[in-house]
Amino acid sequence: MVSMTPGTIVTVALVERHYGSGTGECAATATCVPQAIELPRRPTYILEHVTNATHLLEATSHLQTPFALIDSEAMWRNAQDLVRRANGVPIRVATKSIRVLSIIKTVLTLDGFQGAMSYSLAEANWLVDNGVDDVLVAYPSVDAEAYRELFKDEKRLNSITVMVDSIEALEVIDSLCGSGHAPIRICIDVDSSFKVGPAHLGVRRSPIHSPRQAKNLAAAIGERPGFKLVGLMFYDAQIAGVPDTSPAVRVMKNRSSAELMRRRRRVIRAVSQHADLTLINGGGTGSLETTGKDKNLTELAAGSGLFTPTLFDEYDAFEPNPSSFFALSVVRKPAPNIVTCFAGGYIASGPAGQNRVPTPVWPEGLEYLGTEGAGEVQSPLKGKAAESLAIGDRVLFRHAKAGEMCERFNQVALVSPEGSVTIVPTYRGEGKNFG
Ligand SMILES: Cc1ncc(COP(=O)(O)O)c(C=O)c1O
Repeated sequence: MVSMTPGTIVTVALVERHYGSGTGECAATATCVPQAIELPRRPTYILEHVTNATHLLEATSHLQTPFALIDSEAMWRNAQDLVRRANGVPIRVATKSIRVLSIIKTVLTLDGFQGAMSYSLAEANWLVDNGVDDVLVAYPSVDAEAYRELFKDEKRLNSITVMVDSIEALEVIDSLCGSGHAPIRICIDVDSSFKVGPAHLGVRRSPIHSPRQAKNLAAAIGERPGFKLVGLMFYDAQIAGVPDTSPAVRVMKNRSSAELMRRRRRVIRAVSQHADLTLINGGGTGSLETTGKDKNLTELAAGSGLFTPTLFDEYDAFEPNPSSFFALSVVRKPAPNIVTCFAGGYIASGPAGQNRVPTPVWPEGLEYLGTEGAGEVQSPLKGKAAESLAIGDRVLFRHAKAGEMCERFNQVALVSPEGSVTIVPTYRGEGKNFG
């Protein structure tokens, strides 16, 4: 058991600011959380990595704002870097962090990537219909219509693996699908959070934490017709999704990683008594270095690393190389050092705070007005750079989260190093909204 040090308390605060926490989880620490703790933003650090801004804006000057754009060279370099960091373990691409079918399909042609991790069963059906042949749905589904669609097609049934974390989930699936349904491929989501005394470091998802709990669920699945247990998933959110912003965070991540490595081995051994496991998934963009070392995992997961939004700027293990942006136009100039852009209030999900707001990155030296922030249809920006901007000029922004940017736009413009532009639809542009 790790003792609760002052460092741990700060860590708890950081992790819970990042993900939100259940109520009453950390009464011991809640009062110790300094109000000022934010995941820090370092705008100058971010700007150093936007080397290509003028090229991107020139290449897309014919597009109407607002629009989203991808620096394709940066994205493919990021893909290579994810593969390098995965240490030879195949990466399942997390579709929620992309939400552009053509990009997902291209990533799946690259060495080092294998299979898609989708976020909804309806999406998984659609991906299979569009040629993706191995889809793990990473979150439980109670979508009756999507289950009906799953059973209509043998290819979908053979290609899709559904996530569960309780017997109740199996009962609900049976009630939605009717007993006697064809066998569904099943994966158990194993809670990979780090428990330190009363503190729960990580996300609140699966109730299955211990080897015994996992074994009991596996045994119950084995006895139940209509389900075939093929996999385990271990998502280490408190490692993969938390930037290295302080020594306390690093200590927490190291300890959590060691604990998870040990527990994962025991869970796999226990569950293997009841199932032939072919899929053992773990990690995310932020933890490939550690999960890639665990030979018990058959695959890793990653998506955000391709776009590298601002929430991934401060990890020790890799350099941010932003590839995704959106462009807004200046439509007013209320003062010599203030410009107002049309649109831009694309706030990311998670606990509300400064780190969820898009960042103006080009031209350098622009910031929001504290009184307005990123607005629904008007986003005023102040700073020295505003003085040289005129109505009609464009400002480049980075989103805080990867796939969420694509929910704001019907298409994205892929910009090549030579300056050619390819327009591809986002899920939204294909008329798809999977939640
Ligand atoms: C189950 C699961 N695996 C992996 C990831 C990692 O995705 P990304 O690489 O986009 O951070 C996530 C992100 O939330 C997740 O929920």
